[in-house]
Amino acid sequence: MTVIIEPFRIKSVEPIRLTTREERERILKEAGYNLFRVKSKDILIDFLTDSGTSAMSSKQWAAIMEGDESYAGSPSFFKFEKAVRDITGFEHIIPTHQGRAAERILFSFVGGNGKIIPNNTHFDTTRANVEFTGAEAMDLIAPEAHDLQSQLPFKGNMNLDALENLFREAGPEKIPLVMITVTNNSWGGQPVSMDNIRGAKEVCDKYNTPLFLDACRFAENAYLIKRKDPAYHDVSVRDIAKEMFSHADGCTMSAKKDAFANIGGFLAMNSEDWATKARDLLILTEGFPTYGGLAGRDLAAIAQGLAEVLEEDYLEYRLASTAYLGSHIAKGGVPIVQPVGAHAIYIDARRFLPHIPPLEFPGHALACELYLAGGVRGCEIGSLMFARKDPESGEPLPAENELVRLAIPRRVYTQSHVDYVVEQILDVFRRRESIRGFRIVKQAPFLRHFTAHLEPV
Ligand code: F0G
Repeated sequence: MTVIIEPFRIKSVEPIRLTTREERERILKEAGYNLFRVKSKDILIDFLTDSGTSAMSSKQWAAIMEGDESYAGSPSFFKFEKAVRDITGFEHIIPTHQGRAAERILFSFVGGNGKIIPNNTHFDTTRANVEFTGAEAMDLIAPEAHDLQSQLPFKGNMNLDALENLFREAGPEKIPLVMITVTNNSWGGQPVSMDNIRGAKEVCDKYNTPLFLDACRFAENAYLIKRKDPAYHDVSVRDIAKEMFSHADGCTMSAKKDAFANIGGFLAMNSEDWATKARDLLILTEGFPTYGGLAGRDLAAIAQGLAEVLEEDYLEYRLASTAYLGSHIAKGGVPIVQPVGAHAIYIDARRFLPHIPPLEFPGHALACELYLAGGVRGCEIGSLMFARKDPESGEPLPAENELVRLAIPRRVYTQSHVDYVVEQILDVFRRRESIRGFRIVKQAPFLRHFTAHLEPV
């Protein structure tokens, strides 16, 4: 078989609405030129995020009906706990309402002033939850990742030499935990190799420090290992995932990604001492330990989703459909982060719009134009999202990269939707010289990209 097809058929559909360019111009202006402020009914193809936007299967909907809403000891919790433990092998499984709630709980007792948390690259909520405790969130990305165009297979890896140096220079007492994010969402969705996870564990063991995975996209990472590392070609993706977790001491997880759930997450670990602390905090804000911040039906949907995400025909289709978008626009000359990962395409807006200076937000300008052109919503990951300042002068500094992420919801859009997006991107690319930058009119002191108002320069 050469054609890779969607390994499902569609049982329930939702209409999407095409607006005119004039309507979109008015809508975007009214939204202060901020795509987060545009109503989803005014979007045609929504590639803002792959989080919480998956289509659930008929078996997940059936599990929802079977969800048991008992306050304590619900059978839905035990199904969830078993599903998570079967894959991760961790002893203590603690449900939370989403990934950042797991982060908040973990860093409440692990973080604090003077502490450093290294990560290959922190996702923005992870960084915010680390910094909120007074600790420092340190990104230790492998040097080869800085070349966005190279085809190296595992550009999401952690820089293990830098990790070792950090332990030597700062001292292990300052580093309560090391994290690895799979796949590396803030760095082009690039995967992390098994050797890198194993190597990080060796460094951590030397300094008696736990290693945690930020496991949101663990199945996609496992499948990328299978495809890219010859040692794993013949290993089942479930066994690869299990091995990834076997090198870690715990994980945080947003079930809104690789569990096909619309809400949910968990914190899992082997340490009894940490689990006790986590459960005490859980009860304070999330709920009793057998439901966390979730309904029993959500736990049931996650348990079923975790079984489905490791089906290899699904993962083959998932990678093929993302690669389809990437290769078609790259063939047309559009600069994208290479190689293509699993959950998103990242357009390199600095090279797409070289005439727009970084502090006029080329990524934002491109994301706005994709919306105006075809009702397609993506997300800027660049100087608007990462507001950096020169520590001495206080002047704004550009981000290292100016990207637009087109994150693909799981099992939601068909190939003709993607063909439409390709057509729109190539059309915008042909007339790229007419696109202008933006300036900020109003902004919040942190996470400004969600609420800022802008205007065209
Ligand atoms: N870690 C990573 C790597 C993530 O991508 C996300 C969410 C989180 C943690 C937090 O999980 O949203 O359930 O609280 N990423 C979404 C995105 C929002 O669009 O990439 P959450």
